[in-house]
Amino acid sequence: MKNGKVIVVGNEKGGTGKSTLAMHLIVWFLRHGKSVSSVDLDGRQGTLSHYIQNRVAYSETHGISLGLPEHLSVSVRDYATTEERETDEKTFSGTIEQLRRENDIVIIDTPGSDGALFRTAHETADILISPINDSLLDLDVLAKVEPESLTVKAPGRYAQTVWRARQKRAAEHRPQMQWFVVRNRVMHVATRNEKVMWKLLTALGGRIGFTPLAGLGERIIYRELFLKGLTLLDLGGKNGAAKLSAAHLAARQELRGILAALGEDVSPLTNPQNDLKKQG
Ligand SMILES: Nc1ncnc2c1ncn2[C@@H]1O[C@H](COP(=O)(O)OP(=O)(O)OP(=O)(O)O)[C@@H](O)[C@H]1O
Ligand SMILES: [Mg+2]
Repeated sequence: MKNGKVIVVGNEKGGTGKSTLAMHLIVWFLRHGKSVSSVDLDGRQGTLSHYIQNRVAYSETHGISLGLPEHLSVSVRDYATTEERETDEKTFSGTIEQLRRENDIVIIDTPGSDGALFRTAHETADILISPINDSLLDLDVLAKVEPESLTVKAPGRYAQTVWRARQKRAAEHRPQMQWFVVRNRVMHVATRNEKVMWKLLTALGGRIGFTPLAGLGERIIYRELFLKGLTLLDLGGKNGAAKLSAAHLAARQELRGILAALGEDVSPLTNPQNDLKKQG
């Protein structure tokens, strides 16, 4: 029996790159020889599930084997009664616990808004990664900020969700989650906004208990990678799906930065598992 790590990618904001980051984490762990289970809690939109389907299709069309997680798509029911909701929450927690016992890593991708099972998912997290767009507007779910002095007035809606999840874990004597807020889709020009964001995130992180991290820069390649079901990690090498450019290498470095902060060994692999291989 394993004692896997649950990594939840979540934020109450849409389009911050949650599913893209989740897929990159999945492939990173697969290539490091870990057994990975992925859960798409945004079953209705199904971005992560589509990403994985695109990966299967690419692998079949090009005759190459690509590492795949054991994937589960969860769709929540509409208009559930309180009783049904509680049953669904219990079933979901039980499923995650079981996946954790069977895998090294469980990665849960969540929708960009609160809803059924959103909070339950957060309670299961050993590690929570919250990508935010690089804008003060995106901070409002984390904190209410005084616009003149740019000081933190009060925790925001999502920070409260995380706080409740932590309380629940504490009440059940479970180890506390680590929370990372990742500045994602950052433009590659230094701006005043950049300095202000770091200052605010550092102050807020100290107050509500997260570590701010630099994330993946804004790059056009992610959309193309999604359509092919590939990640930056699948490019390059002898049988790579495409050549690696300097920009791709820089992007990989950004991903390594996130994984290093999670405590993973990011030294280059000599013998990556599930590398792109021609089949047959
Ligand atoms: N670092 C990035 N640079 C440029 N485009 C990106 C980046 N990350 C994600 N994208 C693109 O932005 C769009 C939204 O990304 P993604 O689906 O990962 O976000 P999300 O937070 O999961 O969204 P949702 O809240 O709708 O689930 C996609 O088209 C994706 O390819
Ligand atoms: Mg998504």
